[in-house]
Amino acid sequence: MPATVIVGLQWGDEGKGKMTDFLAEQVAMVVRYQGGDNAGHTVVNGDEVFKLRLTPSGVLYSHITSVIGNGVVVNPLTLIDELDMLASRGIDVARVRVSRSAHVTMPYHVALDVANESRLGEAKVGTTGRGIGPTYGDRAWRLGLRMEDLLDRGVLRERISRALPDKNLLLKGMGDPTFEVEPLVAMAAAWGERLRPHLDDTTWLVQGALARGEHVLFEGAQGTLLDLDHGSYPFVTSSNPVAGGACTGGGIGPLQVDEVIGVIKAYSTRVGSGPYPTELHDEIGAGIAARGHEFGTVTGRPRRVGWFDAVPLRYAVAVNSVSSITLNKLDILSGIETIQLCVAYELDGRRVETWPSSGAALSRATPVYEDFPGWVEPLHDVRSLADLPENARRYVSAIEGHAGVPIIFVSVGPERTQTIERAWRPMRRRAGLPG
Ligand code: IMP
Repeated sequence: MPATVIVGLQWGDEGKGKMTDFLAEQVAMVVRYQGGDNAGHTVVNGDEVFKLRLTPSGVLYSHITSVIGNGVVVNPLTLIDELDMLASRGIDVARVRVSRSAHVTMPYHVALDVANESRLGEAKVGTTGRGIGPTYGDRAWRLGLRMEDLLDRGVLRERISRALPDKNLLLKGMGDPTFEVEPLVAMAAAWGERLRPHLDDTTWLVQGALARGEHVLFEGAQGTLLDLDHGSYPFVTSSNPVAGGACTGGGIGPLQVDEVIGVIKAYSTRVGSGPYPTELHDEIGAGIAARGHEFGTVTGRPRRVGWFDAVPLRYAVAVNSVSSITLNKLDILSGIETIQLCVAYELDGRRVETWPSSGAALSRATPVYEDFPGWVEPLHDVRSLADLPENARRYVSAIEGHAGVPIIFVSVGPERTQTIERAWRPMRRRAGLPG
């Protein structure tokens, strides 16, 4: 059985949760490999709606072990709230495992994130204000706390005393309240007691599942264009949503990945600041935003909306080694007279077909569009590509042509059944396996 990575190919919010939900029946374990409570996904289970930030959505299935991998940053307050909420609604949370090596988001990380954004003013990143950047910053600076540290007051006191002085200096400099060591130690030790039963060496959990031949799903948060290395820096998140992040943050090696499913929406959205060549500022964009319910799950901020951009799509397929694609929200485009697809940029007087690594270059890029006649029919009841209006089929084929890999699912509504499923075949097979 394969190890499958699910990765967003745009700026996040592509609808990765629907794919996880679709595969859930055949999956034994779902692993989150990066990000923190900046992510948010809404999962509909029958009549019930669950909003999750940290816990992988697999938790709603009793046969799935949900793993928060070492690459995730965990705000224990959010996690405890989420576990309590799930338990109170009858979900068995004993199967939630959290890496002992995952880093902890402390209250001073959140305070620094918020203070820094306000200091940056107009130049702000537009973060979710969850302390993500400062937590990863401390991890790289070797000033971080790991989940296992929550189990030992002595270690906690030593780690917090080490990290706090520079935080307090910065906060004080920005006119914000500072923190004291002992209350933080007491708070963190209480989190440790509460979360102790969930802490585990998740690398061996994952490796064990793969060795037994179980299907493990690695779930990326955010998307490729927000990747710390591959996005338009500095308007990015502080981790690696790309498929390679599943290796460093999930506890596997590159040759253990069998399939990478890239998730896209039929248009694009972005939350937060940064260059966005195909952004729409007209009523077509407002219509897409309204029909697509494009509001941030975590912050409630309206998402910026634009046409689909094939330039970063080609880049994202390459850097993630995407083997197949799932295309979401095609139904939202019904009723638009002409749909535009960005196929290249005009940059400093030249036509450019490759995604520029420089954010400054991207902000000077203007889109070169190919026009597609739209369709008026609602798509919610369509279940095969052949039954799509011809213009919708042509649009899907054009995106597939730019991606260079097959689109295996097309989503035409929020329900699990509102999906067009094409022949399902993993693209890459392990050497030595038949077929
Ligand atoms: P941070 O991850 O909170 O530091 O925010 C950095 C950038 O990533 C900002 O532009 C956020 O809006 C964006 N971002 C973070 N998480 C998500 C997400 O789950 N969906 C969409 N954008 C996100």
